[in-house]
Amino acid sequence: MAIARRSNVHQLAARAAPLPSSLAELQAVIDELGPWFQNLDLNGVATAPSHYLGDYPGTFFAGFASALPADLSGWSVLDVGCNAGFYSFEAKRRGAALVVGLDADPHYLKQALFASQVLGMDIAWRQGDVYDVGTLGRFDLVIFTGVLYHLRHPLLALDLLRRAVVGRLLVFQSMLRGPGEVAQVEPDYEFENRVPFDHPGFPRLHFVERRYAQDESNWWIPNRACAEAMLRSAGFVILSHPDPEVYICTPNPEVMPPLPPAFEVQIHG
Ligand SMILES: C[S@@+](CC[C@H](N)C(=O)[O-])C[C@H]1O[C@@H](n2cnc3c(N)ncnc32)[C@H](O)[C@@H]1O
Repeated sequence: MAIARRSNVHQLAARAAPLPSSLAELQAVIDELGPWFQNLDLNGVATAPSHYLGDYPGTFFAGFASALPADLSGWSVLDVGCNAGFYSFEAKRRGAALVVGLDADPHYLKQALFASQVLGMDIAWRQGDVYDVGTLGRFDLVIFTGVLYHLRHPLLALDLLRRAVVGRLLVFQSMLRGPGEVAQVEPDYEFENRVPFDHPGFPRLHFVERRYAQDESNWWIPNRACAEAMLRSAGFVILSHPDPEVYICTPNPEVMPPLPPAFEVQIHG
């Protein structure tokens, strides 16, 4: 794996603070580091026991965990938008040789760092933006869950992941909205033909100008057809679809998406 170069991605300095010595102390640190989005089990203490989605993402992951290799020995794994590190920890539990968790938000990375110290797991936490991901080198497995709809430039992120980062597998998940049907899209249409755009299964990316779910960081929410079309257009082959929102993909050797010139410079050094 290449080492990051000319990158805006920063390594998180490991805090040498002593670990909590009692459950009460552990609970106090968890409270101090809140609010938590991911519900982790830290030595029996739940970090987000009142999550609006229940035991999230544990219950959600249980629905597609078997679609991933059970043994990741020797694999390098990048968890993009790692949050408190749930998927990074799962990759480490499956034996991954190297796990890197990348997130833009230092609040969540502090949680991830603390959780990895409590769990005794060696994970490299990085603070940075998904648009800098091309400087990190290639990883066998890239986890990209719950991030696409938070991006103002979602296809750019997928293109970067395909061009410079995903080695073997991509785990993709996105919130999806709109009809779940997928229309047969023809290779081309006449200019006068407006009919395909009215089909509920036509690929559609919904723009959120203000907020969705009280969250101003939601920008683009695809329907199912659009998520699948974006993955193909970015150069991925969909291998399986184990959950309505989850796709397991591999790079398509025949499709290499173009990047804006500044990003070509970023990935070629
Ligand atoms: C909805 S959470 C999903 C967390 C985790 N991947 C999961 O599936 O449970 C979105 C995460 O993406 C991070 N994020 C949002 N925009 C980002 C960006 N441009 N670059 C890196 N991380 C980003 C957020 O800080 C947050 O931790």
